[in-house]
Order: sequence, then structure tokens, then C-alpha cells
Amino acid sequence: MILRELVSLASGNLRLCGIGSYARDARALCAFALGIQPDEVSIEANMIVTVPQKDILLSMIKKRCKRMPVSRIIGSRLFWGRRFVINQYVLDPRGDTETLIELVLKKPAEKILDLGTGTGNIVITLLCEWPEAYAIATDISSNALHVAASNAEYHRVTGRLELKESDWFENIFSKFDLIVSNPPYIGENELVELEKDVTNFDPLIAISAGKDRLSAYQKIVGDAFNRLEIGGRLVLEIGSTQGKDLTQILDFHGFKQIAIHKDLGNYDRVVSGIR
Ligand SMILES: C[S@@+](CC[C@H](N)C(=O)[O-])C[C@H]1O[C@@H](n2cnc3c(N)ncnc32)[C@H](O)[C@@H]1O
Repeated sequence: MILRELVSLASGNLRLCGIGSYARDARALCAFALGIQPDEVSIEANMIVTVPQKDILLSMIKKRCKRMPVSRIIGSRLFWGRRFVINQYVLDPRGDTETLIELVLKKPAEKILDLGTGTGNIVITLLCEWPEAYAIATDISSNALHVAASNAEYHRVTGRLELKESDWFENIFSKFDLIVSNPPYIGENELVELEKDVTNFDPLIAISAGKDRLSAYQKIVGDAFNRLEIGGRLVLEIGSTQGKDLTQILDFHGFKQIAIHKDLGNYDRVVSGIR
């Protein structure tokens, strides 16, 4: 069998399973099975496929048909143009979170705190973009911190990043000029409405805010004010309906220049304020 035939086998099977993105997914999975990049699939169309490579592909197709996202099957995801390893202990980084990166990058910072770092996608991106910056990143999950550590090593920022297990600010004692976070913001009762791809594969601790979908924000915003230098910035990812609530919370805790920022789909996605 050659690669062209493998791609057609994969896309046919994925289509039968009702996967809407069958063509794109087939290319990504075939590329992964053969150890090449998805954009090389066309050029390498006549490449010979071995039996073990075909077996790998078939087992990946089974997982995709059970709605496991391609990124989880291949164990990595591109975020702001860089590759991040993911596993069952971390949120699969979302394109939405690039809205936060785009905003934050407009004003450089030197001392950064990232709360609930997951894969480390936010903080590692900022450290890569700002070679002079130093950061602390926390998570309540030690398993997530292991993933962040391996991503930090891969992107060569280990020397400028301290990873700490902490329940939000519990183990944070210094001050920063930028605090960022993408906390869990989906209420318990909203979880049922989410796509199976999300609830079945992202860890609950990364997506569920418990009974009160604002609870993580209440904890973070109050402590963040005292952990920011004067003039320091707090930038938080939010759910699309939480802009008004977050504006009130930031205002209550003394933040100035509070602003809501929209994503590419024109949904409220990020809130920011200055101490
Ligand atoms: C929505 S995910 C964000 C992951 C990553 N920062 C991103 O943007 O893709 C939320 C993260 O917060 C962590 N988390 C949940 N509760 C926490 C807490 N009480 N203290 C610190 N981190 C927490 C989760 O383990 C998860 O990694």
C-alpha cells in the first residue's frame, strides 16, 4: 500500500463514523503514523506504507471514531505556532486562548505569574516571545505540572520558569508585573451541554468551576491585586457570557482601566485590569 491509498482508507472510515473534518483528520493521522508533517502528505503520496504503520493508523481511526480529538490521539497541539505535548492530565489548549496571548504581547512584562498553567502553553509562549522575562507558573495538579515541565524543557525556557504546586495563590509570596490565568469557568450544570469531545477527554478539574462558575475568578482577582506591582496588569480568559460579572469583580477589588476583549468570533473572551 502507498500513502495515497492510506489517506483514502482513513478519510473513508472517518467519514463513515460521521466525523465532519474527515479529510483534514485523515491527513493529520496518516502523517503522524508515517512520521512526516501533514503538509508533506501530498508530496509523499507514493511513499510505501508498512504493515505496522497501517496498524497504527487503524488504531488511531478507532479512537477518532470514539470522538477523541486528533490532538489527544497524537499527543500534541500547536499553540501560537509552537508544539505542546498534551496528555490526560491537561486541558487541550484552545485557539480561544490565543486571544489572551495576542492582547498580552502588546505590552511587555518581566515578572509573570500564570495561575492554572496546564500544559504551560500561556507562560511558555510568553517566555519564548520575551527572552528577558522570568515567570512562576502554578497548578493544583502535580500531573499537569509534569507536562508543563517537559514543554518548558522542549522550548528551552526551564531556566526562567519556576513551576509550583499551589491552590491559586496559596504558595505565591512575591509580586509580579503581569498575572495571567485561564481558570476553569464552566458551571456544573452547564457541563452536560458541552460536546462529548470536551467532557470525555479534558480533565474535569481543568474545565469545571463547580457549582458557582465565578468561584475561581473570585479567589484569583481578590488576591491578584495585592500580588501585582503598582501599574501591574491582570489578564484573565473568560467565558463568553461572563464579561459583565468579571468587570464588577475587578472593579470591586480596586482594578482600574478594566476592559473586555473579544475573540475572532466576536465573543467576549478576555478581561483585563491594572492595579
Ligand atoms: C482551563 S485550564 C487552563 C490550562 C492552560 N492554562 C490553558 O490555558 O490552556 C485550568 C487549569 O487550572 C488548574 N486548576 C484548577 N483548579 C485550580 C486551583 N484551585 N489552583 C490552581 N490551579 C487550578 C487545572 O488543573 C488546569 O490546569
